Amino acid sequence: MSNLLEIKNLTIGIHENGGEYTAVDDISYEVRRGEILGIVGESGCGKSITNLAVMGLLNDQLSVTGGEIIYHEPAPKTAENEPPKPAPPPVDLARVSARERQHINGKEISMVYQEPMTSLDPLMKIGKQIAEPLKLHGVNSKPGVKLSKEEIHARVLKAMNDVGIPEAERRMELYPHQLSGGMRQRVVIAIATICHPRLLIADEPTTALDVTIQKQVLALLKRINRQYRTSIVFVSHDLAVINQICDRVVVMYAGRIVETGPTREILEHPGHEYTKGLIRSIPRREEKGTPLPNIPGQVPSTTEQRDPCPFAPRCALAADLCRQQVPEAVEVGPEHMVYCHMISRKQGEET
Ligand SMILES: Nc1ncnc2c1ncn2[C@@H]1O[C@H](COP(=O)(O)OP(=O)(O)O)[C@@H](O)[C@H]1O
Ligand SMILES: [Mg+2]
Repeated sequence: MSNLLEIKNLTIGIHENGGEYTAVDDISYEVRRGEILGIVGESGCGKSITNLAVMGLLNDQLSVTGGEIIYHEPAPKTAENEPPKPAPPPVDLARVSARERQHINGKEISMVYQEPMTSLDPLMKIGKQIAEPLKLHGVNSKPGVKLSKEEIHARVLKAMNDVGIPEAERRMELYPHQLSGGMRQRVVIAIATICHPRLLIADEPTTALDVTIQKQVLALLKRINRQYRTSIVFVSHDLAVINQICDRVVVMYAGRIVETGPTREILEHPGHEYTKGLIRSIPRREEKGTPLPNIPGQVPSTTEQRDPCPFAPRCALAADLCRQQVPEAVEVGPEHMVYCHMISRKQGEET
């Protein structure tokens, strides 16, 4: 599978109260074409700002201070009687011009946030909001040729059907506050996918929804992924939710990656103590009512001094080495990497 996006040694700095801090520290991962990649970690681990950096939406206090975000735009589709066109050269999204960014956001890559109300305009009818990216990018029409009113209307109806909004014709005329939370999140997903982006970043898209609606939204994302081969980056603090739709997982802790691998492999054979803690925190049905077995301690704030292995203060296995050196990736299974000194030490002893 080819890579659509490559995050290489990405570092994000924070300027706060006159100080400079590191929020995301030298992380690397790739998003492959057609896959659903999960990014998991407790609140405050840097999941959102990493993805905001991909979108070019970091606020004034935050900036990319190192590394690259390489986007490989696939070759444009051509008609059968046309010769194939070459793929455009890869671009570094950490350094693109405003013009290139305009071409990419909404058309190549788009994002869905946790709280649908924050990304909807309360004063605009939802049909009009869903049509906006189409008007901007005019997909499927030749460059410079505007879509007709009828064409836009038909595409909006189709997008609403695609995300499972019933009675689309009537609902187009409604305002966001007239819809339920689940329906609003569907509207947001319709806006994000109407131009059929190659990459959809969904940042905790179901966290604000109740369990039944959450299931429906997960099923919808999976269908979009299958139907249009849209790659999805699915961000969540909850491994149980990640497990429902993701092919692979990146586990983040305090601005670093601590483990990556196929979802099943990670759940069945977690390597990092942090991942093990996340798995223990998944509530089990038979244990309803009993307190969650949690990981003692908490994610350090960005202004706190962090150990080279940021998990060391909470880790039962931590040794001096973990406070002296950044752990390298160790391959523990097929495509399964763990960043832990204790694992590399154990592997060293076995060989
Ligand atoms: N605008 C900001 N200014 C200062 N610190 C920020 C800002 N945005 C996020 N942070 C800090 O960066 C860290 C990562 O935040 P975030 O990416 O939102 O975490 P997550 O999405 O994993 O919960 C947190 O410690 C958070 O407090
Ligand atoms: Mg977040």
